[in-house]
Amino acid sequence: MKRLGVEIIDMDVKKLVDLLNAALADEWLAYYQYWVGAKIVEGKESRQIARELEEHAMEELKHATKLAERIVKLQGKPILKPEEWYKKTNCGYEAPLSPEGKKILQQNIKGEQCAIAIYNGLLKKIKDKDPITYQMIAEILEEEIQHEFDLQTLLEEIS
Ligand SMILES: [Fe+2]
Ligand SMILES: [Fe+2]
Repeated sequence: MKRLGVEIIDMDVKKLVDLLNAALADEWLAYYQYWVGAKIVEGKESRQIARELEEHAMEELKHATKLAERIVKLQGKPILKPEEWYKKTNCGYEAPLSPEGKKILQQNIKGEQCAIAIYNGLLKKIKDKDPITYQMIAEILEEEIQHEFDLQTLLEEIS
């Protein structure tokens, strides 16, 4: 059936879906990195750090939801197998091998900075081509910038 909502997109929709699936992989890995970090963090201000990590984890999961829903509207398939996360990710996954709060914060700051760069690049690719995805990614980017700010503020406070 004709989908005008897809036809109005002024770029290769398959390529757009691939870009969104790479971001979806990033979000799931970011979600888990925060989630497990919150469980294992130790030391100074660990409870405050855990709360922040949990909050971020939930927001990364919401980003994954938005991306998956957009992919479906574009008549694509969100990644179906978790092993694809590692194959498609831009930003990878950094295991919190040390439970030290400062180290975990630094790892997650690095992840946020990767996300900011990726989403900013994505916005440039889809500008004037798909206003709906553009608006959604701009909203996600705003939250990644907030995440970077929150983590850096917390790191300064405990340093
Ligand atoms: Fe995110
Ligand atoms: Fe984030």
